[in-house]
Amino acid sequence: MTDKLIVFDTTLRDGEQSPGASMTRDEKLRIARQLERLRVDVIEAGFAASSNGDFEAVKAIAAAIKDSVVCSLARANDRDISRAAEALKGAARSRIHTFIATSPLHMEKKLRMTPDQVFEQARLAVRFARNCNGDVEFSPEDGYRSEPDFLCRVLEAVIAEGARTINIPDTVGYAVPELFGEFIRSLRERIPNSDRAIWSVHCHNDLGMAVANSLAGVKIGGARQVECTINGLGERAGNCSLEEVVMAVKTRRDYFKLDLDIDTSQIVAASRMVSHTTGFVVQPNKAVVGANAFAHASGIHQDGVLKARDTYEIMRAEDVGWSANKIVLGKLSGRNAFKRRLQELGIQLESEADNNAAFAKFKDLADRKSEIFDEDIIALVGDESVTHEQEHYRLLALAQSSETGERPHARVSFAVGMDEFHTESDGNGPVDASLKAIESRVRSGAELLLYSVNAITSGSTESQGEVTVRLQQGGRIVNGVGADPDIVVASAKAYLAALNKLHSKAERVAAQG
Ligand code: KIV
Ligand code: ZN
Repeated sequence: MTDKLIVFDTTLRDGEQSPGASMTRDEKLRIARQLERLRVDVIEAGFAASSNGDFEAVKAIAAAIKDSVVCSLARANDRDISRAAEALKGAARSRIHTFIATSPLHMEKKLRMTPDQVFEQARLAVRFARNCNGDVEFSPEDGYRSEPDFLCRVLEAVIAEGARTINIPDTVGYAVPELFGEFIRSLRERIPNSDRAIWSVHCHNDLGMAVANSLAGVKIGGARQVECTINGLGERAGNCSLEEVVMAVKTRRDYFKLDLDIDTSQIVAASRMVSHTTGFVVQPNKAVVGANAFAHASGIHQDGVLKARDTYEIMRAEDVGWSANKIVLGKLSGRNAFKRRLQELGIQLESEADNNAAFAKFKDLADRKSEIFDEDIIALVGDESVTHEQEHYRLLALAQSSETGERPHARVSFAVGMDEFHTESDGNGPVDASLKAIESRVRSGAELLLYSVNAITSGSTESQGEVTVRLQQGGRIVNGVGADPDIVVASAKAYLAALNKLHSKAERVAAQG
């Protein structure tokens, strides 16, 4: 006898709360389409009331996604809930996820409300949400640190009001697996109407136990929904990682005895897309999606795997999508081949103009790089200058000189709106000179928090360099990503992409705090 585990992905909401991970509407839409191909059951598309940008993103995703339920977060008040309902109007299937903090600490210090006030607000919010949407999820924020008697009282009331899913967050990642599993089980046992809701877990990774806690919530506690993010993206140390929880349940089906609807062959593509879009690089030894996850360096292991694969492998690389890493196109490939590959990758550009711009970029890249991999295409279409999103700053040309014993120098031409600028500067190295040249004209004053370079595809110096630049300006943190076979050009693109995000990003309300 098996039953099903519901996979609720919150990359676009909780994941996006990581400093610098904010995404544009079109970036979110692209990721939502990949999540649909991955066949996640629920996509939490954003927090519609937090900003106009989030509202528009939830609305666009609701209109585009047909196979997954599209969800919006909402605080437990009528305004947030109405805004979520409004954004979700066009969805084939939708959910409102409303929450309020229930721990003594959060109620007293953050909300400055009494437990009775919180109880009443939770109840009324779920009642209101049910009038807007048949599918309502309720979360008691900081649930794991809440007082069990009070939590039972709140949860019984919101189930009576019609909440179909009860999600227990370990908001600060404080839980340990066995205790968390028991906590969920005892809530389900104590609450008289608990069988009228599906129980869900939402674990943060502050102590590195988000996946273990989620699995304990499932196995010991009887939860049948797990909330997670691609690559474990999320505030602080992140959320429960989708790929790890999914592959644990699939690989150890003998133990969990649960079915999943996930198409695991889409996992690596989803991981790359999220990493490229947000600039959060995946560590090489990360389970399932790290570059070394299926690499065997030691002679003994290599020998074992060659003789019998399962000597050292418990999953097959192709089952999570690693085989997608193949040469797909080259210099001689035409428009149709390029279009077909975009379709196979599930990439849908918004207009014919975007398709033409992407093809021109592809041709340009193919002139400089003989083998074009899927990752190159994903990076290429993620480039703002293809999708024309928020293109206030745009790189036009870059020349730099560096020579042993000489101070490097760069000349950069870039567009700002309709104007063109030509600037130059010296620097410690060609990257430093290029970024200084841009900054000498833009004068953003932004602080550079992070600069990192990675090869998009491994195994060759021909690979494109992918640069991430994280900037902070007036309390706002953004990441810019740029890719090019020339890492100095990639750096300038990444810097301009980050400036574009600073230029366009509207203020938003935080979900927690
Ligand atoms: O971690 C948390 O408590 C949350 C809630 C809003 C569900 O993300
Ligand atoms: Zn969370």
